[in-house]
Amino acid sequence: MKILTLETTCDETAAAVVTEELEVLGSVVASQDDLHRRFRGVVPEIASRAHVERILPVIDETLKQAGLSLGDLDAVAVANTPGLAGSLLVGLVAAKSLCVALGVPLIAVNHLQAHIYACRLAARKDVFPCVGLIISGGHTSLYRCGGPLEFELLGATIDDAAGEAFDKVAGMLGLAYPGGPSIQKAAEDGDPQAYRFPRALVKDRHRLDFSFSGLKTAVRYAIAGPGRLNFEEIRLAPGQVADLAASFQEAIVDCLVDKALLALEETGLEVLCVGGGVAANARLRRRLDEEAQRRKIRLHVAPLPLCTDNAVMGAIAVERYKAGRFEELDLDVYPGVIRKTG
Ligand code: KG4
Ligand code: ZN
Repeated sequence: MKILTLETTCDETAAAVVTEELEVLGSVVASQDDLHRRFRGVVPEIASRAHVERILPVIDETLKQAGLSLGDLDAVAVANTPGLAGSLLVGLVAAKSLCVALGVPLIAVNHLQAHIYACRLAARKDVFPCVGLIISGGHTSLYRCGGPLEFELLGATIDDAAGEAFDKVAGMLGLAYPGGPSIQKAAEDGDPQAYRFPRALVKDRHRLDFSFSGLKTAVRYAIAGPGRLNFEEIRLAPGQVADLAASFQEAIVDCLVDKALLALEETGLEVLCVGGGVAANARLRRRLDEEAQRRKIRLHVAPLPLCTDNAVMGAIAVERYKAGRFEELDLDVYPGVIRKTG
């Protein structure tokens, strides 16, 4: 059984072919970083237009890698939530068109669940039940994952996502977009204790939420002081940039590690899966490793190529295929961010 998976939730146009045994026969990711860099963030309209241009060549290239033609596919899967409305639509329309043309079923993929499934793929064995920590440009969330099709939201950011904070702070420090890798690099030469930035909500021992907007403001004040708005006038020495980057990164990592451990305690689970773009962060990965060893937690962090957006993680569609969970062709997109209700 061969499934074509499509991913266009944000600014990566990606396709992959995966099998029932979770083998990856082909995978292509067309990054749009170059298009969004000068805006220091993803511009939704630019993203959706770029998806339109790229989706068919990306699918062609993926099939070529896999040595397959369209007729060999048994199903088409597409991430239809969460994400940018225009971007999601491009993937969904492509997937539906292929399903109609080929007479194969359509499978819906939840992009956040797919980020966790990247850990399952890399582990090559069952990782459920587990706590899932998803840290991306749009989301920072903790889930109780009872099985590959059973996700219960435990907590989430109440303002910025961790990746968003990395991207915005990088902008303040004059570092390139995307901010995560630039801050990680700058932080290598910095002192993580140079600035004592806030760790919001960590004292709240029964709350599994995050908040990063105050941290962002604290960095801003450390750079410019309250009320001074023009970053163009500020000249930071390289050592200052390094210290600010390292101290900011340490604060984010502290919050992420702290709440992930709390979620394990609260749920009584012993397995932690971590996925999403920010899971690529070297400092976070090291801290998670240390804590896992100390506390005998089974830790699965997505491998680097599967942290940022890709279609391989859409292999979660195999689980839906096996459970017979197919969609009608009037399937819609569910854009925006997934938040806790009530
Ligand atoms: O999961 P992802 O590719 O896209 C979304 O679904 O949002 O995550 C992108 C985010 C960006 O904010 C980027 O700055 C961040 O992941 N990121 C990192 C690192 N690499 C990417 N953040 C921290 N450290 C990194 N090494
Ligand atoms: Zn993502």
